[in-house]
Amino acid sequence: MVVGLALTACRKPAETELNLIPAPSRMETERGTFTLRADTAILTDEKSSDTGRLLAEMLQPATGYSLVVEERAEERDNSIALQLDGSLERLGPEGYVLEVSRRRVLIRALAPAGVFYGAQTLRQLFPPAIYADERQAGVSWTAPCVRIEDRPRFVWRGALIDVARHFMPRETILKFIDLLAVHKMNTLQLHLTDDQGWRIEIKRYPKLTEIGSMRRETRLGHEREARGFDGKPHGGFYTQEEIRQMVDYARRRHVNLVPEIEMPGHAQAAIASYPELGNTREKLEVSTRWGVHKNIFNLREETITFLQNVLAEVIELFPSEYIHIGGDEVPTDQWKASPYAQALMRKLGFKSEVELHGWFIGRMNDFLRSRGRRLVGWDEILEGGAPPGAVVMSWRGVKGAIAAARAGHDVVMAPTTHTYFDYYQSKDPSEPLAIGGFLPLETVFEFDPIPTELTPEEARRILGAQGQLWTEYIPTPEHLEYMAFPRLVALAEVTWTGKPGRDYADFLRRLRRHLERLQMLEVRFRPLDSE
Ligand code: ACM
Repeated sequence: MVVGLALTACRKPAETELNLIPAPSRMETERGTFTLRADTAILTDEKSSDTGRLLAEMLQPATGYSLVVEERAEERDNSIALQLDGSLERLGPEGYVLEVSRRRVLIRALAPAGVFYGAQTLRQLFPPAIYADERQAGVSWTAPCVRIEDRPRFVWRGALIDVARHFMPRETILKFIDLLAVHKMNTLQLHLTDDQGWRIEIKRYPKLTEIGSMRRETRLGHEREARGFDGKPHGGFYTQEEIRQMVDYARRRHVNLVPEIEMPGHAQAAIASYPELGNTREKLEVSTRWGVHKNIFNLREETITFLQNVLAEVIELFPSEYIHIGGDEVPTDQWKASPYAQALMRKLGFKSEVELHGWFIGRMNDFLRSRGRRLVGWDEILEGGAPPGAVVMSWRGVKGAIAAARAGHDVVMAPTTHTYFDYYQSKDPSEPLAIGGFLPLETVFEFDPIPTELTPEEARRILGAQGQLWTEYIPTPEHLEYMAFPRLVALAEVTWTGKPGRDYADFLRRLRRHLERLQMLEVRFRPLDSE
């Protein structure tokens, strides 16, 4: 260890030895190191002061230093300066320049998000112990001298957590937001409602959580195995106040929280709460089983209004431009059997129930647009003709992405083949029960979010990619981390660093050191397979 430190002090380290993840676009190392001390100052301009304070908070626990943050102070040695720089247009709003010299650190960016990402890279340059949440004795807090110019390939670098199938406490979401930020990811979609639970307080309709947030018991194992039920209630929801806190926490870390309210399918918890939303007179309970359910919302005006009232409250809570309305897996049996739906179909001149689905999504799109927001839906929304301005999330492979991009829709790539983190990570029989599938780390790393079929013009429609954590078989926060990491690290590299020069062996080498950082952050990741 002493030898290692002496080496970095007197020779220039190779770029890849810095083990940055995601790898930056351009980097030049130099001799020497910067040393963080108790009297190092963080110097900011007005717009960077929030990130400055956050950086001080992030460096405090491990170092024990309470670094001063000064706004608009004179430049000086022994400082970390954070500045907006209007000349950095070429790096976009999330790019940055980071210069570490022996005397000082300088982070410049066009916009606050870029300053924040520069600060995240700086954290990675210090020893992994910088991520610990208690004071680490005997560590020298040095960072190698380096010049980095960096910007992301995609604007949507996301993850989805399904809090409907298994509710996750607020602390779990906050920790996950921190972890997204460490990896320069900027979007977290919360799947808040489904057949098995409604997880967000809606003031106008209290029964959604009084009834819909709790299920009696949960199916054991896979549906097809018919192994019975666990006999234990499962539930939980976020109050509006808790949602506001999560949104604020995420905003400071440049993570956009995208709410997903499922409709017209995956609706059983809502219908159990308000039976008038359903198509039949059957008394439903919050579902205790997995799989696609037939109980979908009816198409009455009262139901459309109900759902728009729900969205109105959701919009008040989430500043996100993007509001996800699901739209996936909608068996239309109940609309086929419903005199009301059939009469509506005739009135609108439709030939099939798929057109009713398109009409329903269109109603929600009109509503969201009237409030200045954009609808996002799973790729099924293409089948009824996706409405203007809607964003398509392509999950059933890339066909939906290609069709959507050609039809002029923005697209987020979320194909099962590369981004379903509820799939098995290895063929080892000791892996915990998963939904099925097989998605090892290397396959995630190899993902190119731009389908080869697209022209460069069409490819501009691809906003980015997102990793899905559906939680039918992920009952605890520990298990969530096991399924997310390290695959999400590979997706971070895919979405930030992008295509040119990506080398899996090099990624693995960096990842081994990066896992030391995750260990410090107390992430319960899946260990790498030994070679
Ligand atoms: C989905 O997995 N049903 C989007």
